Amino acid sequence: MTSSEATTGQEATPPLPSSLEEVPGWFWPLDQRLFAWFLGRETPHNPPGDLLEMGCYLGKSTIVMGAFLRPGEKMTVCDLFGSDDGYTKKAAKAFYQKTLNRRAFEANYLAFHDTLPELVEARTDVLASMVAEDSCRFVHIDASHMYEDVRGDIVTAKKALREDGIVVLDDYRTDHTPGVAAATWEAVLCHGLRPVMLSSNKLYGTWGDPAPLREALLEELRTIPECRPEIQHLAGHSVVRAARGRITAPDVVVSRIPAPPERRKGRSLPRRIAVDLLPPVVTRMIRQARRSHG
Ligand SMILES: C[S@@+](CC[C@H](N)C(=O)[O-])C[C@H]1O[C@@H](n2cnc3c(N)ncnc32)[C@H](O)[C@@H]1O
Repeated sequence: MTSSEATTGQEATPPLPSSLEEVPGWFWPLDQRLFAWFLGRETPHNPPGDLLEMGCYLGKSTIVMGAFLRPGEKMTVCDLFGSDDGYTKKAAKAFYQKTLNRRAFEANYLAFHDTLPELVEARTDVLASMVAEDSCRFVHIDASHMYEDVRGDIVTAKKALREDGIVVLDDYRTDHTPGVAAATWEAVLCHGLRPVMLSSNKLYGTWGDPAPLREALLEELRTIPECRPEIQHLAGHSVVRAARGRITAPDVVVSRIPAPPERRKGRSLPRRIAVDLLPPVVTRMIRQARRSHG
């Protein structure tokens, strides 16, 4: 099923998020900063192109990606959203059926953005025949973490990305996801993927020229001392790596949902102003969504 329209229904969902921090997920401040950097660069090397995310859960990474959509660009997001069929692993299905549904994703996303991305409710396998070749500038792979699935997702990403596009592979080194590690390093060692950056949780790479990206990124990360960026040389590649440290999240998205009174006092002045200045029609829409989802 493909749609960019919000679904309606009676299922109960958690309260709407008044900040990105409140959206459940696995998307840490350093990666939020890296997404902002890779997606927000406006250089001759980064003309418009589409965005693709495989695996969105409740929208934490998608919300940040959506902040960098430029006019004329499209974002496609593929997830099973807790469906009965499709999960490779029983345990994954059980977990996502308990914690995820499409309406909750949509409500979270619409708390930060006006329109939903193109949603594909299916296994990521279907993307191979749906996404146009060379159409994307950024692909985030964070769906199934099983070797065969990730391998397929990398093939899809390679086809979808234009030459200088960026692919991000989640959990490439996490202890419980050896399949992602195997598929990731296979892509590097056998299928021409060039790693640019390694964070604790994600590998950022390209099938284009990594050198200009690497130099510019290193310069950027040197402005964040907690990162302690360095270059490591491995299997013929020079890769930036950085520590997760106590890095502050970038302020790239603002929720339209007012923080509950007990949290309002701690909110920064720019956030309070942004929320307070929202057009009433938007506030009404969110309140309505909240009522029908609450
Ligand atoms: C780790 S979560 C994604 C986290 C999200 N990117 C974030 O940063 O919060 C993995 C997601 O992939 C979805 N998923 C798992 N296997 C899938 C498959 N084969 N095809 C499509 N989606 C899948 C799950 O439903 C879940 O929402």
